[in-house]
Amino acid sequence: MQITILGSTGQVGKATLREALNLGYQVKVLVRSPDKLGDLKEKVIIVKGDLMDALSVEKSLEGSKAVINAAGGVREPDQYKKFQQIGKILIEKMKQQGITRLVNISGAVTNLSTEKLDFKRKFMKVFVSLFYNRMKQAQEGIMPIIEKENDISWTFVRAAMISNKTGTGKVLADDKKMPGTTIMLEDLGKFMVEQITSTEWIKKAPLVASK
Ligand SMILES: NC(=O)c1ccc[n+]([C@@H]2O[C@H](COP(=O)([O-])OP(=O)(O)OC[C@H]3O[C@@H](n4cnc5c(N)ncnc54)[C@H](OP(=O)(O)O)[C@@H]3O)[C@@H](O)[C@H]2O)c1
Repeated sequence: MQITILGSTGQVGKATLREALNLGYQVKVLVRSPDKLGDLKEKVIIVKGDLMDALSVEKSLEGSKAVINAAGGVREPDQYKKFQQIGKILIEKMKQQGITRLVNISGAVTNLSTEKLDFKRKFMKVFVSLFYNRMKQAQEGIMPIIEKENDISWTFVRAAMISNKTGTGKVLADDKKMPGTTIMLEDLGKFMVEQITSTEWIKKAPLVASK
């Protein structure tokens, strides 16, 4: 089965891409800089372009049955507005091509419209705003755009602090409270890809950490 992975030159995207390839998926990616894919470059179908460009997004979705969006805020201005726009383009192009499954990366301090942050996550939000504001802005820009889409089976995977240590092979997921402080990159990649065929977290936003 072919899937599209967006943000595949980033650390989460690469880990997700590796896992998808290990599981035998054919993968199409949309990247601005193909060389950043390193050893994975030869193993995927590459569309070169920007997520803000509707035609590039359209090309990157052609032939895919599901989308994993691992793109996140980078050192560029207006990440909130850009990711609102990225969300709108992605939804429009998914609908146009009849793709209904979307797994989107997010973070622990981003909340669905139906949800309030508990004290611990409110405290974390202050920390994230200070040190990772562009990431937070991107997450907050895209989530409301996707969340209101009834025809899309979305899952927001809200990761704990990411670590490069070897994966434990076990992920704890809970949509009410943080099940841990850290998630290993490898575990996160696996969890993201597993969601393609799982119905457990559809229209939900699991908070995930390694066990
Ligand atoms: N790092 C953490 O501890 C952590 C914890 C919890 C959640 N998260 C979530 O995970 C997300 C991804 O994290 P990361 O560490 O993998 O980030 P990253 O390494 O900075 O990767 C970001 C990816 O998004 C792509 N991207 C951004 N804007 C784009 C655009 N306009 N067009 C095409 N591609 C675009 C980047 O492409 P380029 O390579 O071309 O720039 C890159 O592939 C974060 O933003 C956050 O939501 C991270």
